Amino acid sequence: MIRKAVIPVAGLGTRLLPLTKALPKEMLPIGDKPVIEHTIRELVDSGIDEITIVTSARKELVQRHFAPDADLELQLRAAGKDDLAGAVAELSSLAHITYLYQNGPYGNGTPVLNAARVIGDEPFMVLWADDVFVAEVPRAKQLKAAYEATRAPVLALMPMAVEDAARYGVPVVEEDLGDGRLRISGLVEKPSPEQAPSRYAAIGGYVVTPGVVEELEAATRRWHERPEGEIYLTEALHRHATAGNPVYGQVIDGTWWDTGSPLDYLRAQFAAALADPVYGPELRRLATESG
Ligand code: G1P
Repeated sequence: MIRKAVIPVAGLGTRLLPLTKALPKEMLPIGDKPVIEHTIRELVDSGIDEITIVTSARKELVQRHFAPDADLELQLRAAGKDDLAGAVAELSSLAHITYLYQNGPYGNGTPVLNAARVIGDEPFMVLWADDVFVAEVPRAKQLKAAYEATRAPVLALMPMAVEDAARYGVPVVEEDLGDGRLRISGLVEKPSPEQAPSRYAAIGGYVVTPGVVEELEAATRRWHERPEGEIYLTEALHRHATAGNPVYGQVIDGTWWDTGSPLDYLRAQFAAALADPVYGPELRRLATESG
């Protein structure tokens, strides 16, 4: 049973600078919610509500968004705006969120390891905050189901154009088990199109088991002996798989936006605006007119 999730938000949002100089990329709006709230709601809708956000001093707004604000609620209630007061109150009771400030080598494996040391000896989900999905069954629920069926680490995958391989972790597919489930024997991080071992991209959703955490511990020990390079989750999963342990991929059914990329961020905003039941029709008219 997966009960816990980790969301690292300590990245600098370089691709969206200078927009993200003061405003964390996780706080950029998509529709009427910031990116991180979409991710938290996805987890809660998938039955996972113990969430560790690995953060940094630059990302204080993320914490503020989910913190209780009794003063704001009081003012809204006094003004007769009970609906808004309720919406503000709901944000702080959505999930049990804890925040972790970290030290350690650079790379996306370090926040996962730091959170794992707090979580202890159980499998948990890791989601990058900037991948947003629109799916009938939430991506996290699809991943959770894959873990429950396999009891092994699972990666969320999407089909990709081979020209895009250099942007993603690309799995070596050993066997197609049907229903989008693949057995994976390794991973190559950001290969050239010629070297891509498959046409699938790892898209920022993982179920991590204690065996994978062991690989992150080992990588960190090696780093302390010779401090160079960064610690990556992809490498830990690759080592776990090449040591002969089962690792699976689950091809996710849904639409995916990498909101850390400027074009995808605009696409996600545009799609959310067009889907809005109140404002959608007017925006559609505007888009057709200016098209
Ligand atoms: C990370 C992972 C990569 C994965 C990608 C998905 O890369 O290392 O394997 O495909 O996220 O968003 P990053 O985008 O942080 O460079």
